[in-house]
Amino acid sequence: MLEVGTSQGYSVLWISLGLEETGGKITTIDIALEKVKLAKANIARAGLSHRVTFLQGDAHQLLPTLEGPFDFVFLDADKEGQPDYFKKLHPKKLAAGGIIAVHNAIRMRESMKDYLDMIATHPDFDSVVLPLTMDAGFSGSYRKRKGLSDRSRRGAAKEVGFQATRASS
Ligand SMILES: C[S@@+](CC[C@H](N)C(=O)[O-])C[C@H]1O[C@@H](n2cnc3c(N)ncnc32)[C@H](O)[C@@H]1O
Repeated sequence: MLEVGTSQGYSVLWISLGLEETGGKITTIDIALEKVKLAKANIARAGLSHRVTFLQGDAHQLLPTLEGPFDFVFLDADKEGQPDYFKKLHPKKLAAGGIIAVHNAIRMRESMKDYLDMIATHPDFDSVVLPLTMDAGFSGSYRKRKGLSDRSRRGAAKEVGFQATRASS
């Protein structure tokens, strides 16, 4: 997983708690050294340091140096920067079936209008904006798996066949 915009580490704390269940890891980036130090200390106090890699620097410059692909990306830094972050992540560094989540998609819609308009109509993604976190809003975009819809259809057809067989026996 990847987070852009660590701040004091509140969101990465919750994500890391979830990763305790799945065994995953997260890399989080912040441009402000003091924030990285504070977040590191907070995560250490919570006993979750083994889940988190902290990077300090401008995420616009750091993203091209990361390997990926990531299953989940949380963009929560400079809102005007979203199209550039997207360009640096998709398609190589975002896994098929992966999610891009963006905070403040309602409250700060005007600052990231270009990104929200682009992702809403992008053929590789299914996107939704939800009025979560006191109506600040989250945009969530699912990167479609190519061909899955066909397979899903076949799976559903088999399932219906199975139920029909059981019902008639
Ligand atoms: C809204 S805060 C993040 C909050 C955090 N995700 C949370 O929910 O706890 C935004 C953070 O993005 C960082 N930031 C802004 N521009 C950045 C950039 N270009 N690269 C990396 N971090 C950046 C700021 O320093 C700030 O700490």
